Amino acid sequence: MAAIACKDGPVAVTGCSGFTGGHLVRELVIHGYHVRACLRDSRSWRGQDCIRYLQGLPNVEIYDGCDLFLPGSYNDAFNGCSGVFHAAAVLGNSADGKSQPLGSGEVQDDVYIGGLSGTQNVIDAVNASGSVRRLIYTSSTAAVRPNTGDQIVPDGYEWTETDWASDKGKSNSKFEAYARSKVDVEHLVNKSAAASEYWDAITINPSMICGPILFKAQVGQWIEQIGRLASGKEPNFPDRYDKYYDIIDVRDLVKVQRLAIESSVDHNNSSGGARYIMAGTGGHSTMRLGTDILKVISSQFPNFIIGEPAMTKSNGEPISISANTINDCKKAKSVLGATIRPIEQTIRDIVESQIEFGVIKPTIR
Ligand SMILES: NC(=O)c1ccc[n+]([C@@H]2O[C@H](COP(=O)([O-])OP(=O)(O)OC[C@H]3O[C@@H](n4cnc5c(N)ncnc54)[C@H](OP(=O)(O)O)[C@@H]3O)[C@@H](O)[C@H]2O)c1
Repeated sequence: MAAIACKDGPVAVTGCSGFTGGHLVRELVIHGYHVRACLRDSRSWRGQDCIRYLQGLPNVEIYDGCDLFLPGSYNDAFNGCSGVFHAAAVLGNSADGKSQPLGSGEVQDDVYIGGLSGTQNVIDAVNASGSVRRLIYTSSTAAVRPNTGDQIVPDGYEWTETDWASDKGKSNSKFEAYARSKVDVEHLVNKSAAASEYWDAITINPSMICGPILFKAQVGQWIEQIGRLASGKEPNFPDRYDKYYDIIDVRDLVKVQRLAIESSVDHNNSSGGARYIMAGTGGHSTMRLGTDILKVISSQFPNFIIGEPAMTKSNGEPISISANTINDCKKAKSVLGATIRPIEQTIRDIVESQIEFGVIKPTIR
């Protein structure tokens, strides 16, 4: 399929009130694209906060009511677009029945069905558009390496685009709805693209997405935890304990998503297929929160009182955690021209942006 350029017509982004979706819109606009920003609910506080940000950007049209649980809800937004960036997902942290009014209210089901039937709705809208030539799907390294504490590969094993979490781990269990959804959605996207004469698909598999916020509603997950440490608190998601972080800067991620839609390489015939891992900011594919990341926060903000994750269980035993090394996006670098910024810059910008938006208030020592 032909590569896409900004002069080929508008592109659509799903999940614009989110961290990746919001950054995608910014990246595309500053590279000359006209963007159709798909929002689930413009009346929610996240929707409102996002709209305030988007209204400051040129060449952005907002499409409201684009819900993964609502067939046909992406049709208007995609009609006439040359490309689609699909970054919306039910991530479990918002699937509480209130924030997912059209979901079942059962978190694991909503995560899985929001991924699979939601992406089928996105694909149906791509097919109905008659104009979309490429879909960029945001998957996860969760679809590459299983999230298990067990030693399932030899020491030094380097996970690559040829690996599927479903081959090696527990991604079929109910508790791994997220990983199972990412694996199955990737297969769905690839099968649907192969069946179409009109469009192809490229998947990007990011690790833990971090970086500065553009608006307040983007705070969540890993960046919220780094903000907590910088303001003297313990982490609280998914728990208070130390763990390994594998960070990818959101700005490096969205740049690669843009490069992917613009690329004329034969992605399907590259190693692992049309799939690119984005992981290992600063060349560190695993950094320990309680040591490596704390050191970077302290070096960037020497006057702040810094919080710490718990290193021992309540019975005093040290917690045991293992690193699960992945390559630092070698394929994305060599094929798509990915660039990776230093971890110090990512951490500094996470903290500074959260201070600017009034999300955190560090205490000075
Ligand atoms: N965060 C990470 O570290 C990470 C790592 C690897 C992969 N990923 C993947 O990257 C993508 C973006 O993640 P993110 O961290 O940027 O997520 P995020 O900030 O939580 O944003 C998720 C987006 O999806 C939208 N969404 C949720 N339920 C929806 C529904 N039923 N219909 C339509 N839109 C819905 C949200 O809209 P509302 O604001 O209306 O809820 C929001 O815009 C996801 O596919 C995620 O799986 C994330």
